[in-house]
Amino acid sequence: MNKESPKSTYHDIVVKMLEEYDTNPAKADEIMSEQFIFTDKNRTFRRVCQFIFLTVLRNKLLIDHILRPMSAKKPSAKLNAILCAACAEVIENKEDKHPKIVHDWVNYAKKSCSVGESRFVNALLRKFYVEKDKFAKNLKTDDDLAAFYSHPAWIVKKWISQFGREKTIEILKNNQLPSDVFFRVSPTAEAKDILKNYEQFFAPTEFQNFYKLKTGHWSDVSHLLETPWFYIQDPSTFEGPKMLSPTPGQKILDLCASPGGKSRAIADIVLENPNAPQSETILVSVDTGRRMKNLKDNLSKLKSIKSFPIECDLLKEDLSEKLKTSELPLEYDCAYLDAPCSNTGVLRRRPDARYRITESDIFECAKIQSEMLSIAAKHIKPGGRLLYSTCSIEDEEDKLNAEAFLKNHPNFKLIDGKTLIPSTDNDGAGTYLFERTK
Ligand SMILES: C[S@@+](CC[C@H](N)C(=O)[O-])C[C@H]1O[C@@H](n2cnc3c(N)ncnc32)[C@H](O)[C@@H]1O
Repeated sequence: MNKESPKSTYHDIVVKMLEEYDTNPAKADEIMSEQFIFTDKNRTFRRVCQFIFLTVLRNKLLIDHILRPMSAKKPSAKLNAILCAACAEVIENKEDKHPKIVHDWVNYAKKSCSVGESRFVNALLRKFYVEKDKFAKNLKTDDDLAAFYSHPAWIVKKWISQFGREKTIEILKNNQLPSDVFFRVSPTAEAKDILKNYEQFFAPTEFQNFYKLKTGHWSDVSHLLETPWFYIQDPSTFEGPKMLSPTPGQKILDLCASPGGKSRAIADIVLENPNAPQSETILVSVDTGRRMKNLKDNLSKLKSIKSFPIECDLLKEDLSEKLKTSELPLEYDCAYLDAPCSNTGVLRRRPDARYRITESDIFECAKIQSEMLSIAAKHIKPGGRLLYSTCSIEDEEDKLNAEAFLKNHPNFKLIDGKTLIPSTDNDGAGTYLFERTK
């Protein structure tokens, strides 16, 4: 992708990003970071471009749904990018800002397209908001909901049958909001001391040790992530470690551990028990090849407990052999399995992911998770506990998999379990805790 010239405006960059996405829809993340590698533009400029790009992705089906009937033939990639970016800005701004947004984009179109095309942009943009408003008041069918909230129709239908229409609309609305960034702060005196100097950049939350980053302050606090005490994590991802409640001195296995969020949360929970022998705790964190570097980086920040990164493809290699070779225990007091999943609980964070997942991915993930659960079960000692979690809200990957696991492993019982629906305060996630009875 061509990088921007020093004179590029945010219109230039957003249009370039959208044209690139059009030909490479699997690469939204790469497009966002590549565009700015050699930039001398400031962070605000970068944030504006990324925000508009993500807003287009989040509203892609809605924009298409409204614009398509207004144009007799398919617009060129550039023209389409201009229209989408302008509509995204209109969606995200109050009505009094719309005339200026339309004026600026029409001017941009005049410079970069033909006269006819810029007139076309003007005509379409002036009708977009009115049509969107009309559509909002007339959402009758499941397909209308899918188009209005820009989700594939099959997901909307599936959610309606699982959660009902009202709850589904809540999830859809929530997925359309730009996502917040949460910092989890370790429960240590050092962390509390540092935090005092940065309090103005964070808002407290109802979740202990979690702080919401105030808009526009990323650059003021990002260096805190280099320390062992700050980690970006959604509150929902702490539910599992809390439910597992590991204690000092235990042997703990973290499967599918990279980049290490759960490992670090587990270590912090152990640390909350300051009188117990921390250094006796053993944490073994397992993941596959390309993800090991991030895991090792994160584990290297854990100073109070003994941690061991182990590389093992759980579906192709024998974990027992790997543990034996590394002279690590075969049986554990507790294990965490944060299985790969369809990610339907975190679609708000990754607006492009919804267009990529298919219904069969959900069944494929459920099958892999079930295999991994059986592998994890082999490494739990009698009386030990196994926590199974996903970032999915699908029954197949949560509740049904938990039920099937219990049926196939009569030596385990369910202690606790729930699927958290995504809301403004947390992502969606499934969390199920089992105990080995004999
Ligand atoms: C949901 S992510 C884990 C997030 C991690 N637990 C955390 O809290 O940071 C799922 C992980 O499963 C790993 N994974 C997928 N297939 C695997 C396999 N066959 N063997 C081992 N790990 C696998 C992926 O590499 C990925 O890191």
